[in-house]
Amino acid sequence: MQVILAQPRGFCAGVERAIDIVERALEKFGPPIYVRHEIVHNKHVVESLRAKGVRFVEDLDEVPAGMPTIFSAHGVARSVEEVAASRDLPVIDATCPLVSKVHNEGRRYAEQGREVVLIGHAGHPEVEGTVGQIPGTVHVISTPEDVAALTVADPEKLAYVTQTTLSLDDTEVVVRALRARFPAVAGLDTKDICYATQNRQRAVRELAGRTDVVIVVGAKNSSNSNRLREIATQMGRAAYLINDASELDPAWVAGGARVGVTAGASAPEVLVDGVLAALRAIEPIEVSVLDGVEETVRFRLPRELEDVRPAA
Ligand code: F3S
Repeated sequence: MQVILAQPRGFCAGVERAIDIVERALEKFGPPIYVRHEIVHNKHVVESLRAKGVRFVEDLDEVPAGMPTIFSAHGVARSVEEVAASRDLPVIDATCPLVSKVHNEGRRYAEQGREVVLIGHAGHPEVEGTVGQIPGTVHVISTPEDVAALTVADPEKLAYVTQTTLSLDDTEVVVRALRARFPAVAGLDTKDICYATQNRQRAVRELAGRTDVVIVVGAKNSSNSNRLREIATQMGRAAYLINDASELDPAWVAGGARVGVTAGASAPEVLVDGVLAALRAIEPIEVSVLDGVEETVRFRLPRELEDVRPAA
């Protein structure tokens, strides 16, 4: 069986930083420490941290007084920061710096007196966080039809920001619809939002062009992983999103199919290794890796953790 791995795939710099923050905080404070929401959307990552003494909560009310509390990579609303401050919780913020950049952009537009449109999926924690970081009305939309249905106070005073893990192509269509209806709308080029989203989507497109079946390793609630599967599907390939090798169905890869494998930004490489092992158990495999971007992006850690070494 011919197996091709996408390059790049798996962990992005925002996810690596968030996990590093939790591990260093464990070392610095000792267990238990509290993390609001899954630190990144991957149950293997979450379970391995839980085993080290991390407690995951959805609400800060569940955090006992004085306990170290980490905000997940997806970011949080202002109201959550305020609750943490009112309770004097020692907070370490693992929000991805590229998500924080979107928050800053949104606030800047609001300060300019603009109403903000957020292109994203309602209900995703990143979207909830971004809406809650921007003062005033924020319209969450995801399709050109949503643009047609928008009611705004002043078409001359409008701006858009986006969720970081959307399909770049789909987002471009929404931005074009916004610009057509509201020519004065302000907003960044979607390609400037997240290098990792862009690189993984470009890679899966290339992968789908060379294979019959695409397997995406990632969690069902991982936005960027879902987008990778969708892109392969849109290109006419059979594409499956699986948490790990246990969900691989041998029927998908029967009959000499060329198999592409990639992984979402929150999926550890060990899960890709597991999928390769499962494929190898079906029949001998020949593995190659796409030529692709070598990512060198690294984000700085919060200052209080810079000198802490995570336990091995
Ligand atoms: Fe950040 Fe992009 Fe990863 S926004 S968490 S670097 S997918």
